[in-house]
Amino acid sequence: MRNLSTRAREISPSMTLAITAQIKKLKAEGESVINFGAGEPDLPTPEFIREAGKEAIDKGFLRYTPASGTMELKQAVVDRFKRVNNLLYSPEQVLISCGAKHSIYNLLQVLVEDGDEVVIPSPYWVSYPEMVKLAGATPLFLPTREEDGFCIDPKKLDDLLSGHPKAKVLILNYPSNPTGAIYDRARLEEISKICQRYDLWVISDEIYDVLTFEGEHISFASLSHDAYQRTITVNGVSKAYSMTGWRIGFCAGEESVIKAASALQSHSTSNPSSISQYASVWALRGGEEWEGVMKETYSRRAKLVVELVSELSKARIFPPKGTFYAFVNISGYGLSSMEFAKKLLEESKVGVIPGIAFGADEWVRLSFATSEEEIREGLKRWKEWEKGLI
Ligand SMILES: Cc1ncc(COP(=O)(O)O)c(C=O)c1O
Repeated sequence: MRNLSTRAREISPSMTLAITAQIKKLKAEGESVINFGAGEPDLPTPEFIREAGKEAIDKGFLRYTPASGTMELKQAVVDRFKRVNNLLYSPEQVLISCGAKHSIYNLLQVLVEDGDEVVIPSPYWVSYPEMVKLAGATPLFLPTREEDGFCIDPKKLDDLLSGHPKAKVLILNYPSNPTGAIYDRARLEEISKICQRYDLWVISDEIYDVLTFEGEHISFASLSHDAYQRTITVNGVSKAYSMTGWRIGFCAGEESVIKAASALQSHSTSNPSSISQYASVWALRGGEEWEGVMKETYSRRAKLVVELVSELSKARIFPPKGTFYAFVNISGYGLSSMEFAKKLLEESKVGVIPGIAFGADEWVRLSFATSEEEIREGLKRWKEWEKGLI
């Protein structure tokens, strides 16, 4: 530790690591573990996308591309933003990165500096606070409540900002990992007005957009001209096209921000894999049918999870409206989320992610990116465990 930078010393190790390592260990020991911890689709990358990857190799599309991504992929991204999000961008407003995580990292590096603050609604995706700290800024958590559908209460946002003149960015993520919450237009419009009043940048992480199965996904940047100008919309191919390992994400917005983030990327990772970029053009151009398959699959499983968790006597589910995660309240068990997750895993071989990792210690996240049989078996074990039968 003595020789590491302050920056390195301040990064929190992933809180989910202990549990996921234990799940892996038990599996390796031959235990039949039901893993509700997955953060990626269980469905494979569709064949036509895999074929495109092979074609890229066979064609020799294997050299450096422009650091900010190929023009073909930027154009495909522009067309997808139009088709799915009702957003009009030009290729100059687009940056292709090594995953949406990388896009957000780049954006924070160019938008904030020491002393700035970044508003993060909680529960939040694990990486946001660490990425904010790595950019020298301070996370400013804004708790959301189950009664508000885990959406920001505009009045609370206003109150928070009125006392924090250094707040520069708001990070939005919906459909939300970990809650599965989405926003309706009226609430988004209220939030947008507050962002205008305090002149905030908005990073809108919409990576689960097509996995909205209840209600409608409305992109923040599509609300108004003002929202369009202050928002950088983030997305990627990981979730919607089952391409987590390919590492392609992207963002679009104000050209000066994209230019700065592209320059940063050009001196760090440079271009994302040429093969993955080539295949991603196929995913974005030909993946509409697949988006429907994903939505239908996860919608069906969400209903099943809601039904089965409702049979538990001490747990309560927040019914997800999108993503492949369900947020389950475990305060009835009288344990912290970490203690709960460890106990459930040790005693019934069911793995869930403790909510403390997302800033919500009375909850656990249950991923239903796993088969219906596993969902049934996992919740059956949970029910028996709860009754003291395991
Ligand atoms: C909310 C959210 N944003 C971004 C990402 C990162 O996605 P990518 O694989 O494109 O880096 C994830 C992945 O878990 C996520 O849940």
